[in-house]
Amino acid sequence: MGSVKDRIVIITGASSGIGEATARRLAREGAAVVLAARRRERLERLAEEIAASGGRALVVPTDVTVEADRRRLVERTMQTYGRIDALVNNAGYGQRGPIESVPLEAIRRNFETNLFALIALTQLVIPILRVQRGGRIVNVSSVAGRIARPFSAVYDATKHALEAISDGLRGELAPFGIHVIVIEPGFIQTEFLRVADEVSRSVLERSQPYAPFLADLDRRYERLRRWAGHPEDVAAVILRALMERHPRPRYAVPGHARALLALKRWIPDHLFDALMRRQMGLRPIES
Ligand SMILES: NC(=O)c1ccc[n+]([C@@H]2O[C@H](COP(=O)([O-])OP(=O)(O)OC[C@H]3O[C@@H](n4cnc5c(N)ncnc54)[C@H](OP(=O)(O)O)[C@@H]3O)[C@@H](O)[C@H]2O)c1
Repeated sequence: MGSVKDRIVIITGASSGIGEATARRLAREGAAVVLAARRRERLERLAEEIAASGGRALVVPTDVTVEADRRRLVERTMQTYGRIDALVNNAGYGQRGPIESVPLEAIRRNFETNLFALIALTQLVIPILRVQRGGRIVNVSSVAGRIARPFSAVYDATKHALEAISDGLRGELAPFGIHVIVIEPGFIQTEFLRVADEVSRSVLERSQPYAPFLADLDRRYERLRRWAGHPEDVAAVILRALMERHPRPRYAVPGHARALLALKRWIPDHLFDALMRRQMGLRPIES
């Protein structure tokens, strides 16, 4: 097991949830963390807290979908620390709604944040890691990167694509000593659901034929809350992915995520579909 002490780690989406918990944890272990997200005040508050407990944090307000912001993030990190040891690609959000009624523009936006921006930032960091002959890229995917659900398939598609990009990249970068690792959280208590509700509200309101199922969706998600893990659980796994000498290609967290992925792997698709429909109350519409 290695250590993250004095490692320079960029974390996107550090203003809340998993990113924030990861920044706190890595800083506690002695890493210098570079905090990137759009909400500057949140990042500054976190940086102050980290500094007060003797850690190091650099705030670089960043919208990952803006090219100039991505460049500034990498430049400020290099100016301040002179190197980058790891990039934790964590920023993301969930678009919900029946595929029939999600505007293409909203689908593109979700891909822009969760996938294209992530690829573009990674492209800026790779040459630096390559010259240093080592480093780690940790991509925060989801169980949704391997399981697609009704009414969440747009978000799920962004994460499926991220899994594919990560697998390809892992092979390409292995000769340079750069590890690419995927993290697959299950349901975690963060601001994720609130943000998904906000960005999806107008779509859900325009999805009349699906209304009986959508009305039930919130209640079902609410029930899932008792299974929810904590952002600190994911942070601990990200720390492990950064420290293990031979990191695994993917880590699922917490237990319910591993169980769900095992179920998906072992039972036939038509049975998994039937379980999903049952879980989501998708019965035939009575005319
Ligand atoms: N919570 C879950 O159940 C769960 C499960 C599986 C996977 N995940 C994944 O975990 C990651 C973190 O999500 P979370 O659960 O921690 O949700 P969260 O609390 O909503 O945090 C999302 C973070 O992403 C940042 N972000 C969003 N758009 C951005 C942009 N354009 N530029 C920069 N930063 C941006 C947000 O910061 P600003 O708004 O300040 O920019 C925030 O810091 C996401 O990739 C999500 O898909 C979450």
